[in-house]
Amino acid sequence: MSDTTKAKPASTPQGFFDKHYHVLRRLHSLTGIVPIGVFLIAHLTTNSSLLWGKWGLRHEGHDETIVSGGVHYFWKEVQWINNQIPHLLLIEIGLWLAIAFHSVLGVYYARSGKSNTARYAYQGNWRYRMQRLSGYVALLYIFYHIATLRWGWSFLVPGGAKWSADFAASTLAAALRGSNEGFTAMGIAVSLFYFVGITASVYHFANGLWTAAITWGLTISQQAQQRWGFASFALGVGLMGMAWASLAGALLTKPSEMQRIELQLLQEKGKGGAMPGEGAALVDATPLVNVPSDPEGTQPAAGGS
Ligand code: HEM
Repeated sequence: MSDTTKAKPASTPQGFFDKHYHVLRRLHSLTGIVPIGVFLIAHLTTNSSLLWGKWGLRHEGHDETIVSGGVHYFWKEVQWINNQIPHLLLIEIGLWLAIAFHSVLGVYYARSGKSNTARYAYQGNWRYRMQRLSGYVALLYIFYHIATLRWGWSFLVPGGAKWSADFAASTLAAALRGSNEGFTAMGIAVSLFYFVGITASVYHFANGLWTAAITWGLTISQQAQQRWGFASFALGVGLMGMAWASLAGALLTKPSEMQRIELQLLQEKGKGGAMPGEGAALVDATPLVNVPSDPEGTQPAAGGS
């Protein structure tokens, strides 16, 4: 690749992108960090709680196993996000707009090969090549992830699971496995796609954080770039750990087992809760879990939030 150290556009600006080169560069950089990057950190923190949630529950988690504590903590977080954060839809729309803006410009930069001045001059250009590639992968992955789990395009999910906040962990796990129990072949393909997608997203963000400091003129000397490089690398390793922990937490336990825990949580909170199989999150047209007969009458009524 010969063009990665290509300088800014020629002195005679030709189009909109060239005319507003500097401001668009900075807006592209800014949106990659706030809100997208900040959201990525928060999102991975929540999702990785499937593995560390038992300890996050503190005294509440003493009698829990790693699996039940993880499902419990994750469930609480998701309930809080969905029921208590004000103006959630507005926040989401803001995020989508930022992602759309960053992606459109990102694709333009990736296709035109116009990297930002001399940012890659010292580092060789493989990292920029990876930055572009990971951007494309992240774009595909984020679209699939949001479309299937947020917008409910369950026709794209093997097994047809539909995500629901009341059954946050089990419906996520079912969407990844392709069934309520074991993995289907398509479920394995989706899980692998998730692995590639989250790995690419984290690499893209961590490497982007390093180049963003150059975009903003914060790291001018080589030593400064090296120091910021260590910091970005350390953040990237931490985020990668959380990303992989999130996936492991969602894949290691059967959805049916997670759902048993969620049903209990819904009962304890007096929320009732529709079985995902009874409307919201049908997988293979069977209930996610065969609920045992309910001699004490504690079974939740259908019709959760
Ligand atoms: C996980 C979501 C994403 C995050 C957190 C993110 C973050 C960032 C950050 C912080 C930068 C560095 C900006 C700079 O150097 O000033 C960047 C650069 C870049 N992003 Fe993203 N981004 C994301 C998604 C995407 C998507 C979906 C695309 C679409 C293809 C994309 C394409 C690019 C490209 C091509 C660059 C390099 C631009 C250049 O230097 O020429 N990004 N991103």
